[in-house]
Formats: sequence, structure tokens, C-alpha cells
Amino acid sequence: MKYFIGSPILLLMVFSLLISGCKNKTSDNNHSGKNNYASEKHRPLYHFTPDSMWMNDPNGMVYHDGEYHLFYQYYPDSTVWGPMHWGHAVSKDLVQWQHLPVALYPDSLGYIFSGSAVVDKGNTSGFGKDGKDPIVAVFTHHNMDGEKSGRNDFQYQSLAYSNDNGRTFTKYKGNPVIKNPGIKDFRDPKVIWHEAEQKWVMVFAAYDKVLFYTSPDLKEWTKTGEFGIAGDKRLWECPDLFPIKVEDSNETKWILITSIQQQAPNGGTATSYFVGDFDGKTFKGDPKLQRWLDFGTDNYALVTWSNAPDGRIVGLGWMSNWQYAQVVPTQRWRSAMTLPRELKLYKQGDDYVLRSMPVKELAVLETDIIYMESRIINDSSLTSAIPSASKLEFSFKKPKKGLVTIRFSNAKNEYLDVGYDAERQTYFVDRTKAGKSDFNENFAARHTGQASYKHENIDLLIYLDHASVELFADNGQCVMTEIFFPSQPFHKVQILGDNIEWLSGNITALEIKKQ
Ligand code: FRU
Repeated sequence: MKYFIGSPILLLMVFSLLISGCKNKTSDNNHSGKNNYASEKHRPLYHFTPDSMWMNDPNGMVYHDGEYHLFYQYYPDSTVWGPMHWGHAVSKDLVQWQHLPVALYPDSLGYIFSGSAVVDKGNTSGFGKDGKDPIVAVFTHHNMDGEKSGRNDFQYQSLAYSNDNGRTFTKYKGNPVIKNPGIKDFRDPKVIWHEAEQKWVMVFAAYDKVLFYTSPDLKEWTKTGEFGIAGDKRLWECPDLFPIKVEDSNETKWILITSIQQQAPNGGTATSYFVGDFDGKTFKGDPKLQRWLDFGTDNYALVTWSNAPDGRIVGLGWMSNWQYAQVVPTQRWRSAMTLPRELKLYKQGDDYVLRSMPVKELAVLETDIIYMESRIINDSSLTSAIPSASKLEFSFKKPKKGLVTIRFSNAKNEYLDVGYDAERQTYFVDRTKAGKSDFNENFAARHTGQASYKHENIDLLIYLDHASVELFADNGQCVMTEIFFPSQPFHKVQILGDNIEWLSGNITALEIKKQ
């Protein structure tokens, strides 16, 4: 159940919110159902995690026959990175996931690095069986022996196909389908069908740029273009490419996503994008206009689902950062995925800005068991007990000065701040005091993201889980995703600030329901 705080009032008060009957179960969660996640420290309640061991990038995301497939970089023998496999899970609603056996194992050509998957409609590849379209996975083989012997051509693009809804895959005998001309970083193919050209298009990263190839059948590929920033020396990875309609218009633009391994806005690794056009061969856009899909530190390698229903553009990222991913303090597994987000393109003057908002399917997590009573106390803050997994929607008049801080805390005096800085017109997430951080010198820090100057009110949508916060501000124009590791989950929220003209607030408990 939601509640309304008051409208519009100056907040020099404390709301004491009585929450009754609020269960906080984590056992039967969105994974296999046969787990004991509730007892595991830092295990998210509603974010996707591998049941055990190491995970990084999302891979092969494709929708087919009522199922969203999520493959991912996976090392089943350790909680740190190693010989890469593709782990696998499926979901009917993007929220409740079922783990399936490992889909792709390393072989004589190498480890199975990141890539994508498509439904080969019309069976252009000939891999289909019994008149049914195959799922074709396109990935990078990373040859460790080649790398160790000092060669430069140890990454190349390969195929595998499935005729049983992704349950089993057969590697293509003709692998690799794109050989390496001697470029050390040559990986992470994303394949899409180009309707106008009636061809497959592949985009992948080649060190500091992306390359485009086309094919009639997924097997024979011809290079058609490149896109990069002149003089850029950062490492590009995990590109994505898709057309998108501009909101409230008939115009279509193309988005090129690319994850960048260095110098992200708040340090380390992050996902960026360009807006431009694509003629079936190459991408044309202003290389100077590289934007960040997420200003937080923990959204890497975000890519979108192929073949998603209703023309929606839905994606998710790996909720970590290569700066510290391998040393974060979880025990049986490492890493989670971000919430799935729907992407929309918004035109602001002559500018195009990608908005990301959590998918509407997340509503299945919302419970109606919070009962709240409010009373006014003379203080400069608003305080409420909250479930440790919750969705918070806050709206206040844009202040002209000072900070509005939303502080999540626990009984151990640990806290996480999320807020708005009026002078600088930035949103921020400060995890300096949010728990364990000694595993990496960069971790305990305050991070910022640029606010849109257009908005009159500040509308914040926040998803809190046991080890992460996702802030969607300005209607998804400024997103910040950050992880943290408190010694116990945060159970209290406080609003700190002076003369905040509060408009409304909802706090909704989130819970994974028994399936
Ligand atoms: C990105 C990345 C990819 C690569 C994979 C290896 O996080 O470095 O470029 O394919 O991880 O696990």
C-alpha cells in the first residue's frame, strides 16, 4: 500500500511511520527457489545474481517464445574471473528468473567471451530444424594460448546455435566466422537484423573504436564501417546498436552503446552512448557527443534484448566496476545485474537524450502490506522505518540552495546518502559511510551526476536492495546505480535539508513472491 506524505508543505518535521505486517523474506527469491539466500550477507533480494561463483557481463539477451533469456559471463569454478563460460537463466517477466545449466563451455578455440544472440527468423543460417527458427549465439572466442604466446590475433568471432529454446547449443563447425587481422582487443559482437538492407549487421569493439560487418546468413561477414573518437586511447567494449523512435514524434534515430574501461564520470568503467544514424553499413554521429547512460559507478556492459515484444527497448547491465569487482565482500557468488530498464529517446531542443526507467514488470514485486501513520514532530528531518528492499518515490520543489539528502541507515551507524545539490545542479550518491569499503581504495566515495536544468520539481525514483541503490532522476535522464556493503541492511530512511518544499512521497515494500 502506498501513502501520501502531504502537499505541498515545508518540511521541518519528523514523520513517524508505523509499519506493520511487513515481511522481509528473501528465501524463495527470483532464482531457483531452492536456496537459502536469506542467510547470505549482501545477497540482493530482487536483483539477478548467479546462484554461486563469478559473473560479469550480460550476454546473448534474446526474447523467444515467451521467455527472456539472460546469458552471462560466468566462471563456475571460482568467485573471481577465470575461463569464461556463458551462464544461463530465463524469465517470463524480467523479474523472476530461473537458473538453467551453463550454456556454452570453453573449447579448443578459447574461452567464451561476451556476445549476443538472435532468433534467426526464416533460418537464413540453415541451422534451424523441423521448420523452426534457431537461436544463434554470436560470441568472441578468446584464445589463452595465443595471448600467452604474445600474439595479437587471439580474439575472434564465433557462432553456436540452439534448436531447443536455448537449452542446448551446438558450436558451428566453421568457427571462427570473423578472423582477427592482428588487433589485440577484438571482441563482444552484437548482431541485429537490418530490415531495409535485409542483412545481419554485427558491431563489435576493436580497442578504441567499433567495427561494423554485414552478412546475409550469419556465417559470411564483410566489413562495412568503423566508428570511434579520433585520438581516444580508452578501451571500448560491449557495443550495442538499435533504432529508436524519438518520443512524441515520427523521427527515428540510432543509438550506439559502448562501454568504456577507463575514466568513467565517477571513475573506472561505465556505459556510454552516441545518438546518430545508421545506413545499414556504418554509424554516423558526432563523436564529441559521448554521453553516459548511467552516472553511477556500477552499470557496465549494458546491452538490450533482441526481439523484445512490442518494439520495447529493454536492457540491463552488470552491476559492478572492474576497479573492484573481484574483491567485493560477498562469499558464495560475486556480482549482480542492474534492474532491467526500458530506454526511450527524448528530444530537448536540438539535443537527443536517452532516458532509462525501470521496467513496468517490476510492479509484481510491490506488496500492499505497509500501513503507515504519520505525525508531525518539530525537527529538521523526516524519518521512517522502511523495508530493506523498497521502492521510494519522492517529489519536492527544486530548491535554490543547499542539499536535499535522503539517508538510508542501519543500527550500526552506517549510512548511504542519495540526494540533490541545488548549487551544483547535480544528483549524488555518497557511499563513504555505507559499510565495508576497505577492499578497494576507490570504493568509499561521493559520486555525482548532472541534473537536467529543465525540471521544475525534483522527482526521484529510488530502488533500494540489500547491496545496491538505483536512482532514476529527471524522468530517467540522470540515472545513478551504485553498490555498497553494510554490515546489516538499511532499515531507516531520513530526509535531511532545510526548507524543502515536499510535494509527495511513496514507499513501497518489495518482495519476491512464491512462484
Ligand atoms: C567486459 C569484458 C568484455 C569481455 C568480457 C570477458 O566486462 O571485458 O570485453 O568479453 O568482459 O569476461
